[in-house]
Amino acid sequence: MTPPSDSAAEVLPDYLRSVYNWAYLTPWLAPLLDRQLVVQTILWGNAQKLIDEVLSELAPGQTVFQPAAVYGDFSRQVAAAIGPGGRLEVRDIAPLQVNLTRRKLADLPQAHVAWGDAAAPAATGQFDRVACFFLLHEVPDDMKERIAPAMLSLVAPGGKAVFVDYHKPRGWHPLKPLMRRIFERLEPFAFGLWDREIEAWAGPLAQEFTWRKRTRFGGLYQVVVAERR
Ligand SMILES: C[S@@+](CC[C@H](N)C(=O)[O-])C[C@H]1O[C@@H](n2cnc3c(N)ncnc32)[C@H](O)[C@@H]1O
Repeated sequence: MTPPSDSAAEVLPDYLRSVYNWAYLTPWLAPLLDRQLVVQTILWGNAQKLIDEVLSELAPGQTVFQPAAVYGDFSRQVAAAIGPGGRLEVRDIAPLQVNLTRRKLADLPQAHVAWGDAAAPAATGQFDRVACFFLLHEVPDDMKERIAPAMLSLVAPGGKAVFVDYHKPRGWHPLKPLMRRIFERLEPFAFGLWDREIEAWAGPLAQEFTWRKRTRFGGLYQVVVAERR
């Protein structure tokens, strides 16, 4: 799908404009943030480990759906893991992010980037893998309830959806009070992942999947793999 222009504000959801304007919609700042070092810093040095969790679920030749752009190297590493015989479909709801990601992946013929809303993907049931990397914590709860099942609906029989995102850290975690403050100020929708499992956000379709969850870094992050039976 052809992305609307960078200034096509009417396609942007309210939550993106009101909460994340600085991070994803500011043309001069976005290219500065779109670096692996920035992602690595924001994730307390865990970015590569969490990306590796996704890569461990991939194999050459697979088809992968990525519902939203990710700053840094994530998409390039996914594209490398599936190789030239695979296909990576990346979508994003912000035209600016579509254009940035297109440029970033231009030399990788297996990568295709287009505008799209993760809550209403055009395709169904055709991907070997869905890689949902730190999207759910950035959307309001009513969108979590739409995006989680939408991601499952894209998975082919025997395929997997891999969700990597925040999780409620253990009680003793030294960063818990700070993360609470950061969420209150900058990431207000992230608490929905502290309070409820991703499986629960996915609704009735979750029953068609086998779920595995592992937590990382004292429980601050979760890797959830849902495999379609
Ligand atoms: C994947 S999330 C966060 C990733 C992580 N914080 C990082 O390092 O970039 C960020 C992206 O989600 C996109 N986004 C938000 N809501 C969306 C939706 N409903 N559909 C598709 N993309 C969406 C934003 O435009 C933004 O580019």
